[in-house]
Amino acid sequence: MKYINPTQTASWKVLKNHFDEIKNIHLVDLFQCDKNRFKNFSFFLHNKQVLIDISKNRITDKTIQLLLQLVHEVGLKQSIQDMFNGEYINCTENRPVLHTALRNQSNTPVILNNIDIMSDIRSVLNKMKNFSHDVISGLWRGYSGKRIKNVVNIGIGGSDLGPKMVIQALKEYNNHLNVFYLSNIDSTEVWDIIKLNNFESTIFLISSKTFKTQETLTNARTIQDFFFKKVGNYDFIEKHFFAITANISGALEFGIKPNNIFRLWDWVGGRYSLWSAVGLSIMLSIGYDNFNRLLCGAYDMDMHFKNTSFEKNIPVLLALIGIWYNNFFYSDTEVILPYYQNLCKFPQYIQQSSMESNGKSIDRNGDKIDWQTGPILWGEVGTNAQHSFFQLIHQGTKLIPCDFIASIISDHSINNHNTILLSNFFAQTHALAFGKHFKKINFFSSNDIQVYNNNYIDKFKNFDGNKPSNSILFKKIDPYALGLLIALYEHKIFTQGIIFNIFSFDQWGVELGKVISNDLYSKLIYKECILGYDSSTNGLIDFYNLYRK
Ligand code: F6P
Repeated sequence: MKYINPTQTASWKVLKNHFDEIKNIHLVDLFQCDKNRFKNFSFFLHNKQVLIDISKNRITDKTIQLLLQLVHEVGLKQSIQDMFNGEYINCTENRPVLHTALRNQSNTPVILNNIDIMSDIRSVLNKMKNFSHDVISGLWRGYSGKRIKNVVNIGIGGSDLGPKMVIQALKEYNNHLNVFYLSNIDSTEVWDIIKLNNFESTIFLISSKTFKTQETLTNARTIQDFFFKKVGNYDFIEKHFFAITANISGALEFGIKPNNIFRLWDWVGGRYSLWSAVGLSIMLSIGYDNFNRLLCGAYDMDMHFKNTSFEKNIPVLLALIGIWYNNFFYSDTEVILPYYQNLCKFPQYIQQSSMESNGKSIDRNGDKIDWQTGPILWGEVGTNAQHSFFQLIHQGTKLIPCDFIASIISDHSINNHNTILLSNFFAQTHALAFGKHFKKINFFSSNDIQVYNNNYIDKFKNFDGNKPSNSILFKKIDPYALGLLIALYEHKIFTQGIIFNIFSFDQWGVELGKVISNDLYSKLIYKECILGYDSSTNGLIDFYNLYRK
């Protein structure tokens, strides 16, 4: 992995000039001067079952060519090899980054410190397979002999968001088990689980890579106390409590039986961990075969990322386009718009993957950064989004690149709902790009051509257009396709991190708040009068003390 300031590369300097040349060119003109623009800027994956259209971006062949030079200059090819080969690329935590090994479908060994880690990976996968089979089939029973009906995953961040998003996305593949996610320390959320009041038919998966996270351990302890009060026998815990962790001794100390521990490894980043035992709740809900299809989709994207030349490499191209807007147009945010209800948690999931990975301001040399790193990610399902924030995207002062994602085949075909849904998808990408413009353009029917006049009200109805978007269109979003989609974004984030010259796989920025909260917690508990914080924080606490119970 190279340590190169991207702004000092030759291509960055040329990109700056190129930006000045094309910043005012409209997508209308780009499409008009290249009749093959869609063909030239779109790609198929997975035997033509996925289409990725990047043509509605403010780019030309030259833009892509220069951005590709940039990835060569920063040594992306070598960095990809380094990740797949288990080099210690997470330097600040002194670890390799090997979530790709978790979905390795080939017989190629993955060697780490002279050992092939694939046998460990397969043995945990097998343990997950057997356990999920037993629970789903009813072989595994609760303490009173009843079948398991509920699964509660207790975890936060990467030990929550990925599995929760996948379960929702693959709702149509969920079996009879009800899966719940307890993440927040807020007792309101804990209460939602306690009030299930069905401990004889519920298993709890305590999912924490470190087994040190305050929220997860507190929630797990509270639930275990309630369980114990209800069932009155500590031995019954064995039938109901499981741990998913890299900290085996932590889980044992907590009271989890050795056989009930599903192992993961320090080379799996939390936000890249749904492919590991952290995905146990997914496997319980959709079964081993579907979980394996998810892995296969991700593996195929891994191979695409690793082996495809960069000019056709989808994660690389999407990463470059993101950097183009982020660092040259100064777009601070990107919006993710799934036109597929079951992907409603996808934007939230990508938020953590991208923002925790690339929200950094010190480069790999240890120097303060003066270029833009990770964008702010946000989003909502279409068409709901159209009726809330699309106004700003269409007519606001900010340039917000959009990712539109959809599945052509829906799980439920009811009347014309999905045709309406997809027409909205297509309409929005078109309206954003071409606007309602005073110029005569070929893309509208003659009736629709607007002739601009100086009428006052018309100014408010004018759409400038030139708003960029990517479209990712699946024949059908199934477990395989979802695996492919998630891995696509993972590699996009990786590529951007390499170009930003940052370490994408640590997250030191979340630590300070944890330390202060621990200190404050003990002061609040012991009602200490001298808090020693700033006047604002002290004032907030004084007010809290007025009403606390
Ligand atoms: O606080 C951030 C974080 O460390 C995430 O990176 C991680 O996914 C989450 O907390 C949970 O950590 P753990 O799985 O160790 O409980």
